[in-house]
Amino acid sequence: MGLCISFPSSSSHSKTGLHSHASTNNHSNGTEFSSSTVTATTNSSVERRSQFSEAASESAGGIMSYSGQILPSPSLHVYSFLDLTTATKNFKPDSMLGQGGFGKVYRGWIDAKTLAPSKAGSGMIVAVKRLNSESVQGFAEWRSEVNFLGMLSHPNLVKLLGYCREDKELLLVYEFMPKGSLENHLFRRSEPFPWDLRIKIVIGAARGLAFLHGLQREVIYRDFKASNILLDSNYDARLSDFGLAKLGPSHEKSHVTTRIMGTYGYAAPEYMATGHLYVKSDVYAFGVVLLEIMTGLRAHNPKRPNGQESLVDWLRPELSSKHKVKHIMDEGIKGQYSSKVAAEMGRITFSCIQPDPKNRPHMTEVLDALEHIQRINVAQDRSSTKPAVASSSQSSPSHYQYGYRAGGAGAERRRASPGRFGVGKAMVA
Ligand SMILES: Nc1ncnc2c1ncn2[C@@H]1O[C@H](COP(=O)(O)OP(=O)(O)OP(=O)(O)O)[C@@H](O)[C@H]1O
Ligand SMILES: [Mg+2]
Repeated sequence: MGLCISFPSSSSHSKTGLHSHASTNNHSNGTEFSSSTVTATTNSSVERRSQFSEAASESAGGIMSYSGQILPSPSLHVYSFLDLTTATKNFKPDSMLGQGGFGKVYRGWIDAKTLAPSKAGSGMIVAVKRLNSESVQGFAEWRSEVNFLGMLSHPNLVKLLGYCREDKELLLVYEFMPKGSLENHLFRRSEPFPWDLRIKIVIGAARGLAFLHGLQREVIYRDFKASNILLDSNYDARLSDFGLAKLGPSHEKSHVTTRIMGTYGYAAPEYMATGHLYVKSDVYAFGVVLLEIMTGLRAHNPKRPNGQESLVDWLRPELSSKHKVKHIMDEGIKGQYSSKVAAEMGRITFSCIQPDPKNRPHMTEVLDALEHIQRINVAQDRSSTKPAVASSSQSSPSHYQYGYRAGGAGAERRRASPGRFGVGKAMVA
């Protein structure tokens, strides 16, 4: 649940010189749900209907949409803290899968049929996320996660199996994603991640986002980034972390929040400047991830030289030219795509990161473009054994320097992820 940026838009006012739109949020969102929505501590499903469930049934009522559905009622298992202590072997450090802004994530075991905790090694593996008491995130993000993931079902959204709320302990239990996150594969491995898998993953992620945006009462995900794209054993993508998600406005064109929250490098410019949030803000973040898979470079890295910290600001000009785009591709995957594929990737990425949200495509169009790219990539694989982009040995533009030449993702691979800043109390209006 990314909260790398968090500051009131009133403070952004002074930084950006743009309007502050504080306190005008009158739409349903992840934090407006009744706090009694998720208060059960016995083994029963969430009983009270949230504003989300009302909006959901108003719009689709359990109807299949884009091969996903809004469930007529959530079916989540309610765990006691003791249950999850058992399932994770007392939150043993060696069962830790990772750590994010919300807290640590542990491997746990539950019975596949009853979902009751089981002994380590028997039953099915799950991921248990436990709120860190020091975290700036808390009940609002936890509740948003339970409300959204409890109601939405789609092959490209991670499945939430249950939750625990006991005193100050807030936990979430998910299906286990054995291949980790896209971020892990792109940036934390020494070996370059294969291009065909990169494309497969972004197609899955695009399907997940298109599903959210296609709901009659659209859902703005707001935290699209490589670390929130989890991967099943087949490298099929599942979006995770709905702590910042919001229901789109029902009658107005944009959502306005009093606090800008998200992750540097991925947040859309209009949102950063004004707090206005659109589904097209997700499309921008999607474009940033496309640029990450093309280049193998992180969306934001303060360790890069001046002018290169933001991947979009740095490389946007290269995307518009067929000739230039091949020079920004990750060198580690040279030969795995054709120059036509690189050019098409440049074209769709460029459209997603347009500064004006109106000029960005809908996720369904992005999905079509990516599926086309995947088809021509496969066709090229079959028809040629020779790499279509044979070399990027031509000298790169002079601003690619200091070991961070675009295309030279190896320089960034395995580096620690850039530090967070601007983390404030997690509040969403
Ligand atoms: N369902 C899951 N299955 C397997 N691993 C998971 C699962 N959920 C999270 N993880 C792993 O746990 C780690 C922390 O995830 P988490 O979502 O808490 O943070 P993050 O997305 O990395 O960062 P942020 O808090 O900024 O969103 C990640 O490395 C992720 O790969
Ligand atoms: Mg995450």
